[in-house]
Amino acid sequence: MAILEILVYPDERLRTVAKPVTNVDDSVRQLVKDMTQTMYNANGIGLAATQVNVHKQVVVMDLSENRDELRVLINPTIIEHDGEQVYDEGCLSVPEYYAPVKRAERIKITALDEQGEIYELDADGLLAVCIQHEMDHLAGKVFVDYLSRLKQERVKKKLIKRARAAD
Ligand code: NI
Repeated sequence: MAILEILVYPDERLRTVAKPVTNVDDSVRQLVKDMTQTMYNANGIGLAATQVNVHKQVVVMDLSENRDELRVLINPTIIEHDGEQVYDEGCLSVPEYYAPVKRAERIKITALDEQGEIYELDADGLLAVCIQHEMDHLAGKVFVDYLSRLKQERVKKKLIKRARAAD
């Protein structure tokens, strides 16, 4: 396993649209393992392949306190959505920044697991938020895109400054 580098906003590579996985093979399972380790290492609850500069539709997620309820979503598709909720979101690609985003309250998705088996999942609350957030990454979107232009500029400046300081 390996810890992968996480791209940081406003890195343009986060704008790449991910392609569907055509064959869930050992290379995809290896990617899932590496992404899982990377997510746990960074104390995140979700990670999309886009964030580690791999442009395939793969997401890992774990909302449990004990970090033992891994969810793998390959080629996730929202087939139903309903209602509205606002949640204060954060992102491993937007460190130390949180802002409220409006999303669907309930969703139903289909996805493949790491064996390539299709499954359906009904999600609401934080799980629904997290799935929509990660699916945005696969489409080349970041939660900051939903904020005002002024807030977007502020967070951009802050993170560019932070990256310079770390060099
Ligand atoms: Ni994110």
